[in-house]
Amino acid sequence: MAKFNNPGALQGLGVGQVAERAGVAVSTLHFYEEEGLIESWRNGGNHRRYGRDVLRRIAVIRVAQRAGVPLKEIAEALKSLPQGRTPNARDWGRLSARWKDELDARIAALTQLRDELTGCIGCGCLSLKACPLRNPGDQLAASGSGPLLLAAGDES
Ligand code: FES
Repeated sequence: MAKFNNPGALQGLGVGQVAERAGVAVSTLHFYEEEGLIESWRNGGNHRRYGRDVLRRIAVIRVAQRAGVPLKEIAEALKSLPQGRTPNARDWGRLSARWKDELDARIAALTQLRDELTGCIGCGCLSLKACPLRNPGDQLAASGSGPLLLAAGDES
């Protein structure tokens, strides 16, 4: 736990206040803190305090999670900002554009997977030669051209 870069008012927000305002469980805040996504400091009474900007930080984390961005990647993105600041509007614009591109790529991959799976419905062959899910990206392609499995006597 470290003192936050911009704790705002010296008193900061208590963990319950942050949980309520951000719409997350206290345990989620503790988890985010363990993962290095947010930071707090201890006040004189040894209670956790958070800067007000933690609310925006949590909003970014939640949206990124909804887009399927792994927590590790979110943490790296947040740490990449100058002095680990909370993303401002410009930062968020850049991060959200990058994550949108990644989401588009995942959607394309899942759409292809769905289409290939559709071809398996009612088939059941699970053939290394014929089933695109059994042999994604043609695993034998790197071994050379020609009937490699036939030459090896493989009937799968
Ligand atoms: S199971 Fe036959 S094509 Fe996938």
